[in-house]
Amino acid sequence: MAKPFHLGWFTNFTQGDWTNPVSQGTGSWDGKFFVEMAQAMERACFDYIMLEDTLMVSEAYGGDAAATLRHALQVPKHDPIPLAAMIAAQTSKLGVVATMSTMAWPPFMLARVSSTLDSISGGRFGWNIVTSGEDIAAQNFGMDKLPPRESRYAMADEYVDVVCKLFDSWEDGAVVKDRATGTYADHTKVHAIHYEGQFFKVRGPLNTVRSPQGKPVFVQAGGSPRGRAFAARHADSIIAVGNGVEGMKKYRDDVRQHAVKAGRNPDDIKVLFLVYPFLGETDEEAQARHQRMINEPAFIEAALAAVGTVTDIDFSKFPLDEPLPPLTTNGEQGSLDKFAQWGSGKTLRQLAQERFDAGIPLIGSPDTVADHMAEAMEAIGGDGFLISTPFQRISRRTVTEVCEGLIPALQRRGLVRKEYTKTLLRDTLREF
Ligand SMILES: Cc1cc2nc3c(=O)[nH]c(=O)nc-3n(C[C@H](O)[C@H](O)[C@H](O)COP(=O)(O)O)c2cc1C
Repeated sequence: MAKPFHLGWFTNFTQGDWTNPVSQGTGSWDGKFFVEMAQAMERACFDYIMLEDTLMVSEAYGGDAAATLRHALQVPKHDPIPLAAMIAAQTSKLGVVATMSTMAWPPFMLARVSSTLDSISGGRFGWNIVTSGEDIAAQNFGMDKLPPRESRYAMADEYVDVVCKLFDSWEDGAVVKDRATGTYADHTKVHAIHYEGQFFKVRGPLNTVRSPQGKPVFVQAGGSPRGRAFAARHADSIIAVGNGVEGMKKYRDDVRQHAVKAGRNPDDIKVLFLVYPFLGETDEEAQARHQRMINEPAFIEAALAAVGTVTDIDFSKFPLDEPLPPLTTNGEQGSLDKFAQWGSGKTLRQLAQERFDAGIPLIGSPDTVADHMAEAMEAIGGDGFLISTPFQRISRRTVTEVCEGLIPALQRRGLVRKEYTKTLLRDTLREF
């Protein structure tokens, strides 16, 4: 039997599938939808829920926020950290990963909130390390422009160094709670770090207790060579976009080589590829619903505006029925490459329609999709998939289709976990 693979779900604190006549999307903004979603994921034995985040209202499409707001693309978006605490409090096995940008959070605050969440969750917290990729987000933090990729990563390297020192500023066993001597913590096991680097100066120690995992699980998504090198050094799990099975295999092989060069065991880094399973009771039903979605009049504009939010490129400037000219971005280059299918000769309209399916198309009944996922994973070599929905339009319906349709189909094939055997998220990821 094939080795099982890992599963995450990529979502964010947004309105979800509000356009669907049989859905309220994520409903009101009290966060309870996501708690129920996480509980369903826990019954299905996912490794983690991954809460994406960005810090702006995008004006990439057409130079203003009209399309972003019209289609509710990544906005409104509420903060993932309080939501992560809610989810952690009402689950017991599922990993809870939340995004925090090195551009926005001072390292001391990030270490403190991560350590707190790791304690609240009993050792199931993960930090999705991002550097932010949009000029307009940088402008919310006192800058005129996003720093170039190279300096964002240089800063992120130092940032991770600082927070790791902070996490270790409380040794294991520092808390002694000795009533006989009236000692709560042994001061010889709690250390200032006196960090002084090129970008950060932090005294330490942290004022939180050492958390169950010591440091949270590190998740990362950089696809550039620099991003992959960063991830290979620091990440426990990588969330990635890849062009088809071949592109995904290449990506993973490359990260694993970088990991070996960095002196790490490549099996300690789980690469999860973003996919958009589109499910129905039968293949025909799924295909028909998918066709309806991509032929809706608003779909093309929403798809182009959505790629624009992560690449900072205004796709309204290009003719719909011609191929795209060559483009690069200081934002998500990997997402741009996947979207653009360079060299395919496809028109922008076709690219928009294939926006969510160019990785591995997964449209059909749970059994059909499970078979495709099995074949793909075998060809890629590991380590798993990160499920998502077009435009992150989730609803109770999509959660049920995946957790009660697709996952049982994968479990029947012995492809994914049927029970948790570990307590800490890092151990869950390393279970196989
Ligand atoms: C699957 C995936 C998820 C991502 N999630 C976020 C996110 O939540 N917030 C964010 O600011 N950037 C996010 N990014 C962007 C990455 O953190 C990174 O900035 C981007 O991929 C560019 O990296 P590169 O320059 O190494 O290619 C994500 C990227 C990918 C591929």
